[in-house]
Amino acid sequence: MVSQPGICIGWWQRASGIKIAPESPRSVRVKKVLKVIGILLGLVVLAAGAFYLWAGSAANSKLATSYTVHAVDFPVPFPLDSAEVRKMRLRPEAAAKLAGERALERGEHLVESRYGCLECHGGGFSGGVMVDAAPIGRLFGPNLTTGKGSRTLEYHVADWDRIVRHGVRKDGLPAIMPSGDFEMMSDQELSDIIHYIRSFPPADNEVPPRTLGPVGKVLVATGKIVLSATVLDPQAAHAAMPPAAAVTLEFGKHMATTCTGCHSRDLAGGPIQGGDPAWPPARNLTPTGLAGWTYEQFLGAMREAKRPDGTMLKEPMAGMPKFANKMTDVELQALWMYLKSVPGVASR
Ligand code: HEC
Ligand code: HEC
Repeated sequence: MVSQPGICIGWWQRASGIKIAPESPRSVRVKKVLKVIGILLGLVVLAAGAFYLWAGSAANSKLATSYTVHAVDFPVPFPLDSAEVRKMRLRPEAAAKLAGERALERGEHLVESRYGCLECHGGGFSGGVMVDAAPIGRLFGPNLTTGKGSRTLEYHVADWDRIVRHGVRKDGLPAIMPSGDFEMMSDQELSDIIHYIRSFPPADNEVPPRTLGPVGKVLVATGKIVLSATVLDPQAAHAAMPPAAAVTLEFGKHMATTCTGCHSRDLAGGPIQGGDPAWPPARNLTPTGLAGWTYEQFLGAMREAKRPDGTMLKEPMAGMPKFANKMTDVELQALWMYLKSVPGVASR
């Protein structure tokens, strides 16, 4: 009965004695309009549903695409230069010991000042958080120590190269990790970082695998979350050594690769792809954006997150001093020299 409203109303009219007036042409028109709106709304819901289905399958197929990355090899730790060994008259054991100590020092410096593995892989590399927001997803930095839950226990040098410089996991699938920042890392730097990570005690920590929420799937499908594997060349050759640490354009450019993830490749800034929606757009670091800045003002931005007018820079740039205070003067001067040398580009 309830499924037949006409009958119900007829019964109710008879029982109550209340008459419902026959429908006026106006109410018929209103009904028609409502019907059209209903159909339109239905179409919108259908389109949203279809878009979401498309996004889900597009994201899944992107994440299921396998990549074949070249297999590189290099020593860990990097040995000393043979001329230096001869000059210092070192025996092989002493040379190996010194090489290990230097690699540790360099690895610590690189991780603390430039390549922020600890930001996502947690204290002591025991596992950490990149994003934990249900609609986007839960993306954890796996445990890089050799303890329980280690993702790197069976790792060879080629496996480190594959994830760090190409964005591809050991299983050949793309990682959601911003490896573009590490693209220009030389063999020696990666070797130093591996040696440094390996110096940490094994930590037992089973880090859950990543999960993507509905927003995360749409962001991956539409390329707002960039899978590094899709933009980095899986066969790209790497320099064996970084440019010498000196105030040169070459070394400045090397330093600046870690800025491009947010400030974009041409350094003109703009909204940060895949970043926290609360972040302001990254600023223009070309001579157009930094016109009139002095080196001291640049140092203020880097080491104190202060703008020239004394106001504070917002997140994520507010976190820069932690790194910049570990950078040497030479590193900062080279960075500044390079930023002043690039072509000026209008802000986005
Ligand atoms: C912005 C956050 C972030 C930074 C910075 C970062 N990682 Fe990751 N890393 C991740 C996430 C998230 C995963 C898991 C990726 C996945 O499974 O999609 C990961 C995965 C890994 C893996 C495991 C890959 C596999 O085979 O499953 C290794 C090894 C690794 N990262 C090393 C590094 C090193 C070394 C650095 C620094 C040079 C670094 N990461 C910097 C977030 C980060
Ligand atoms: C994780 C993203 C991120 C990274 C990496 C990053 N920045 Fe920024 N940076 C920002 C954002 C966002 C702003 C704007 C902050 C604001 O407006 O308060 C900014 C602002 C700045 C400013 C201030 C410019 C102005 O006009 O006020 C300077 C200078 C700067 N960044 C330099 C650098 C350098 C050099 C590097 C690399 C060594 C770097 N940043 C790496 C996100 C980033």
